[in-house]
Amino acid sequence: MANEALALSGIDAYYGDSHVLHDVTWSLGEARLLGLLGRNGAGKTTCMNVTMGVARPRRGAVTLFGQNIAGRAPEDIAARGIALVPQGRRVFRSLSVHENLLVAARKPEAGGKHAPWGFQTVYAAFPRLKERRHHLAGHLSGGEQQMLAIGRALMANPRVLLMDEPSEGLAPRIVAEVMATIRRLKEQGLSIVLVEQNAKLVFDIADDIVILNSGQVAVAGTAAGLRDSGIDLHQYLGIY
Ligand SMILES: Nc1ncnc2c1ncn2[C@@H]1O[C@H](COP(=O)(O)OP(=O)(O)OP(=O)(O)O)[C@@H](O)[C@H]1O
Ligand SMILES: [Mg+2]
Repeated sequence: MANEALALSGIDAYYGDSHVLHDVTWSLGEARLLGLLGRNGAGKTTCMNVTMGVARPRRGAVTLFGQNIAGRAPEDIAARGIALVPQGRRVFRSLSVHENLLVAARKPEAGGKHAPWGFQTVYAAFPRLKERRHHLAGHLSGGEQQMLAIGRALMANPRVLLMDEPSEGLAPRIVAEVMATIRRLKEQGLSIVLVEQNAKLVFDIADDIVILNSGQVAVAGTAAGLRDSGIDLHQYLGIY
């Protein structure tokens, strides 16, 4: 793919003896949004862990803007311009909103083409976080914590943003807000991987789709192409 931001190629990953990812290959184009779908346990989070260097693949390559990053330390990988909004949000509950953002702050790359993120821009994007900036993160609602988790990832000024089930456990109205935020980030030119179990949410926003099933890529294509193909996704995803 021309202008590839991130690619996993032929990844095999294990937890101990348990073989979780089998020859997984997918790629994210620059300024595109890839929806990564699959049921519980399909291997979505493991793909995130492998990308971020938290899990080490036994085989295969992870390339970020053309450089192989597989096997590098997580800090080194993060410093190359990729950030993860982890599943379950994982904000620092005993720190304030402001402190959560502060610890994640990283200067934008010199000459980077995206508007640099900092307190001002994050608070402008999430006015609710600004209002609550002195509150402990543990006292925020689920939706506010999700906004904080996204804001924290943005403070690192990534070129590639990974989001692991950001809608999980949120009320529909809040999910709509989170999706609107993701849409804005995409419009600003960020390259995004959106992990989801809810196919409807992803097809509304994604350029490209990958569906994992038992640690293997079962379906891959453009969202528009898959929508038109009439392929039955329920066998991989359950019913939505
Ligand atoms: N730390 C771990 N140790 C051992 N096995 C694990 C570990 N984490 C995940 N697994 C197993 O690896 C497989 C893939 O898990 P993974 O978390 O990648 O799935 P997922 O697609 O993110 O699922 P979910 O939608 O529930 O978050 C599952 O069978 C899971 O039980
Ligand atoms: Mg997961």
